[in-house]
Amino acid sequence: MAPGRVAFSLRLAFLDISAGLANTVPSMAEPKTSELMETLVSLCKRRGFIFQSSEIYGGLNGFWDYGPLGAELKRNIKDYWWRSMTALRDGVVGLDASIIMHPRIWEASGHTSTFSDLMVDCLLTQKRFRADQIEPQSGTAYFYSGATDAAAGKESKDPFSALIAWGKHPGYAREVARQFYKQRGLKEPALQGERSEAVSNTTRYNPENGSLLTEPRPFNLMLKTSVGPVESADNVSYLRPETAQAIFVQFKNVLEVSRQKLPFGICQIGKAFRNEINPRNFTFRSREFEQMELEFFIRPDEAVEAVCGRVAQPAGPGHPGEPQPDWGWQLWHQYWVEERLGFYESIGLPRASLVEYWQKPDELAHYARATVDVLYKFPFSKRGQNGELIGEELEGIAARSDFDLSQHQRFAARPMTVFDEELKTAWPKLDPAKQAGLSEGFFQNRLKYLLKVGEAPGAAEKQARQDAEALAKGYYIPHVIEPSAGVDRLALALICNAYSQDQAPDERGKLETRVVMRFHPRIAPIKVAVFPLLKNKPELVQKAKEVRGLLRPHMSVFYDEAGAIGRRYRRQDEAGTPFGITIDFDTLGEKGPELKDTVTLRDRDTMKQDRVKIAGLVPMLTARIR
Ligand code: GAP
Repeated sequence: MAPGRVAFSLRLAFLDISAGLANTVPSMAEPKTSELMETLVSLCKRRGFIFQSSEIYGGLNGFWDYGPLGAELKRNIKDYWWRSMTALRDGVVGLDASIIMHPRIWEASGHTSTFSDLMVDCLLTQKRFRADQIEPQSGTAYFYSGATDAAAGKESKDPFSALIAWGKHPGYAREVARQFYKQRGLKEPALQGERSEAVSNTTRYNPENGSLLTEPRPFNLMLKTSVGPVESADNVSYLRPETAQAIFVQFKNVLEVSRQKLPFGICQIGKAFRNEINPRNFTFRSREFEQMELEFFIRPDEAVEAVCGRVAQPAGPGHPGEPQPDWGWQLWHQYWVEERLGFYESIGLPRASLVEYWQKPDELAHYARATVDVLYKFPFSKRGQNGELIGEELEGIAARSDFDLSQHQRFAARPMTVFDEELKTAWPKLDPAKQAGLSEGFFQNRLKYLLKVGEAPGAAEKQARQDAEALAKGYYIPHVIEPSAGVDRLALALICNAYSQDQAPDERGKLETRVVMRFHPRIAPIKVAVFPLLKNKPELVQKAKEVRGLLRPHMSVFYDEAGAIGRRYRRQDEAGTPFGITIDFDTLGEKGPELKDTVTLRDRDTMKQDRVKIAGLVPMLTARIR
């Protein structure tokens, strides 16, 4: 295939694989695209990081496959997240739940009724957009009351409108309109009732072709399936839109078997599915993706105050330090925001590339008391007034109160309360005024929740009163802090961040452009490459294979004997391999016994080469990749 052809199809893959299907009308504005993203998409395919799903069948919009390097990268991200959540801290255990769960779960969580975006369809191409993602446009709108085809004796009374940029010839609008009426069966449409109007900042037209869009209407994002051999309304189920709900549903089981005490967390990594209206920006918004979620269960503030005598307040921004028993939800929330920012820095995303965005009250999800989004400044991110990148969401850290467990308690009619021995012991020792104050505060919070989810006022008040009485006996539904991250978005951020170009000398010492993926060694797909200097020297090859065998149990190793050594380095630079080991004649002791069993260790970023002992390789490299 000609090289130009490859570049063209990859460009389409980035913009939107479905964009070219039915779109033959003149475009009002060429879609904006970023050269850097095109380069990255191309590199991802060429080096086997990411492929378009079902590519040989023309692709499937919103679905992606990870090639050999991409699969390793993702695995490293997930392994490190899992280790940082479980092995490297106390009080977090794992779960691996099914993707399809009881449909009532999605009623309880609110996904059935509220998990929808407003969407609009192009009247011409039927392409679907999220209403809030249509860029405001200005220009001249042409309106038509219908069209006739005298020769065929046909007419259409469907009204239509098309927008063209100011100063553009009306012929563009007429051509769009004629195509619309041709789709209604008129071979030679004569447009009827044309009138025009100047419009500013409208979001009613398709920015790709100027056609009118439908009115915005809600579209549920859950992907439906049916369980069992017969398809009917009774066995409709959904591919989970988030991994979180399984954790809530299994909360009691996990608590019992792991014998944890609050505060403690349950984490999970797994696939999630959303029928996104407009998948875009490469893998950023996909229809199938992976999440890494932690649900961290804490005492409600009233229980903290009863046990500790107070609820500590945040002293200011930044990491609040080691967790303390008197922390309420605000300090726990702040703690997890800082822990998560630290995680991203520990795998190579500089702090300056990240943004901590506090959602405004009107942006909060129905369950959230506060949410901080961790944004990464992707090349395709929106820009602020001064042209600075604003960033796009990598992770949301939400304070979800006791909403989810309370909902499952109501819907499944199973208690989600925990018993807190310390609270039971502390409560009778409080003075009556304090007891009354805490009870009242707890009652009000429960009442607010119950009324919000539609309980009748009388029943809600009765239930909230019972909940407050149970608190005094040591029972409550835990509150939750949820750091929820996307594996694919993080992989994309790491790829964007790693990409760089510099100059390096070729075999003849001439400077050439070098593409380097500067992945942090912790997440680099391949940790080390092993090269015999020459492939036709059996002693070098044998020694190199010995070194590979030595390293293999500890890290991912790539062995390469083909081509000039400089070319082999370049290939690994582009794959992001942080270390390269070359076995040469010194290794064999040909230049003196003092260099026998030493190799050169090349650093990808500095290209510096050090002579090191083979015997020291495992500890030296392991320390740098952990
Ligand atoms: N349980 C909470 C939850 O699911 P979310 O903000 O909807 O919250 C969490 O999703 C993370 O999942 C996001 O920050 C993002 O990294 C990832 N994510 C969500 N939708 C995605 C999509 N369509 N494609 C890729 N990643 C997505």
